[in-house]
Amino acid sequence: MPGALWIVGLGPGGADARTERAAAAVRGAEAVVGYGPYVDQCADLLRDDQLVERGTMGEEEARAQRAVALAVAGRRVALVSSGDAGIFGMAALALRAAAAVPEDARPPVEVVPGVTAGVAAAAALGAPLGDFATVSLSDVLVPWEQVEARISALAATDLALTLYNPRSRTRTWQLDRVRELLLEHRAPRTAVALATDVGRPDQRIEVATLADFDAERVAMRTVVLVAGPTAERVGSWLVTARGRG
Ligand SMILES: C[S@@+](CC[C@H](N)C(=O)[O-])C[C@H]1O[C@@H](n2cnc3c(N)ncnc32)[C@H](O)[C@@H]1O
Repeated sequence: MPGALWIVGLGPGGADARTERAAAAVRGAEAVVGYGPYVDQCADLLRDDQLVERGTMGEEEARAQRAVALAVAGRRVALVSSGDAGIFGMAALALRAAAAVPEDARPPVEVVPGVTAGVAAAAALGAPLGDFATVSLSDVLVPWEQVEARISALAATDLALTLYNPRSRTRTWQLDRVRELLLEHRAPRTAVALATDVGRPDQRIEVATLADFDAERVAMRTVVLVAGPTAERVGSWLVTARGRG
């Protein structure tokens, strides 16, 4: 059987938010490659006869190359990401690596979509996203000035925001800076949700305001949702006006 590459979004956590297509791709693979915790996320699908390669953070490019090389060598490969592989995941790197393979040697490639963390968090809150934008606050691949420029530009709109990579062990002050930038345009009472470990047993969702949310409550596995101006509490839910941020 010829090789193939599936670039798989596993969803935010548990098997219940993982698509059937994603599960089938991992089950059908001879080799499963991914960042260690993401491989753990699909441990229930793995078999002893599969080659399983668990990578570490920071070697994403090598991992993408490795997954493509295995597929070129004739293996059926699942390269796994959490959430959706196209949203701060492995899809862009893997597709670039695949495109560099001469067409006559290139295996079939499929991107399998997944439920991204921001959308999973929004569903847990109710329906706070109408028109919205997604921004990563990580400055590992993008200069911090560029992240600030994006936040400032978005602050002046009425879009709801989902903010990924809001904090790490070394990036501790950025979220407070983002708050300052947003407050230049947005009301202090704007609803802000801190959604941590969404879709996992330890899921924690806290709703506060832009003025008073506690950045210390934010962890690496938190997605921060900034509601748009039409969002309001409806019962226990946070709900936007239909079609608007
Ligand atoms: C490298 S990005 C990966 C995003 C992933 N591809 C997705 O679509 O959800 C990592 C960031 O995603 C967010 N994230 C991923 N899984 C999460 C979860 N279960 N709960 C809350 N946030 C999560 C956090 O902001 C985290 O810092």
